[in-house]
Amino acid sequence: MDRYAVFGNPIGHSRSPWIHERFARQTGQALVYTASLIELDSFEQAVQQFFAQGGSGLNITVPFKERAWGMAQCRLGSAQSTGAVNTLYRDADGRLCGANTDGVGLLRDLTHNHGLSLAGRHVLVLGAGGAAKGVMPDLLAQAPDRVCIANRTLSKAEAIVEAYTDTPCLSASSYEDIPPIGFDLIVNASSEGLQNTMPAMPSGLVSANTCCYDMVYGGKETVFQRWAREQGAKMAFDGLGMLVEQAAEAFFIWRGVRPETETVIAQLRDLLGQNG
Ligand code: ATR
Repeated sequence: MDRYAVFGNPIGHSRSPWIHERFARQTGQALVYTASLIELDSFEQAVQQFFAQGGSGLNITVPFKERAWGMAQCRLGSAQSTGAVNTLYRDADGRLCGANTDGVGLLRDLTHNHGLSLAGRHVLVLGAGGAAKGVMPDLLAQAPDRVCIANRTLSKAEAIVEAYTDTPCLSASSYEDIPPIGFDLIVNASSEGLQNTMPAMPSGLVSANTCCYDMVYGGKETVFQRWAREQGAKMAFDGLGMLVEQAAEAFFIWRGVRPETETVIAQLRDLLGQNG
């Protein structure tokens, strides 16, 4: 049977095996998908070994997405500029190829599942790490009017802006200096940082028309979602839909079949509600 896996450290929390098992059952595809805890110093070796032993595809999660990008001999679409990949496979010539499906996943959840449109909108992204970088090409492709990246370490936000030289709508700021306009969309792409407390930010970022989206998900409201609600945001979504959609895109790349996601999102929400 074709073998797939997710590599990360830590990995115990991963819902990817659960999601891909449902996709496989739903589409009648025969495959196994497991989760592996990979030691920090043996990632490259583990990837080589997995494919050498006949593995078909890998998902890559924290903290290995940048190293996976470095290993890829060819990069699909947005992965050329993200500097991080979350999906690996071998092409017909045996080359190791990398894709980043996080951006597609986020955009599909925002636009298809939640009915939002980003064209001409003002967007604020909190965080400038791998998660922010990974979704930037797909976000910019939606033609927003303005994208402000705010980060604790200003230089990292500036580095992303500098990477997109022909994109005048993009700007960087510290959290304190975010322009106090009512953003249409605020995306939390900060990793664990914002999960316990929110940084000090100017008032006036959130209006009654602002939609907020946390790339993080869990069984209960995240700190960012609570902040958004308290600020009077119109909507505050978690990243559970993005998780399932990025998995669906990876499944499509590997198997050429696009799974239905709505039911899987609902089932996963039920599961997390029960188990946290
Ligand atoms: P990921 O790949 O998940 O994005 P990362 O590349 O380590 O992880 O980036 C983590 C992001 O969360 C960064 O934007 C980081 O801010 P810095 O660039 O200033 O480090 C942000 N972050 C992590 N801990 C934070 C904290 N305690 N307060 C504010 N931001 C934090």
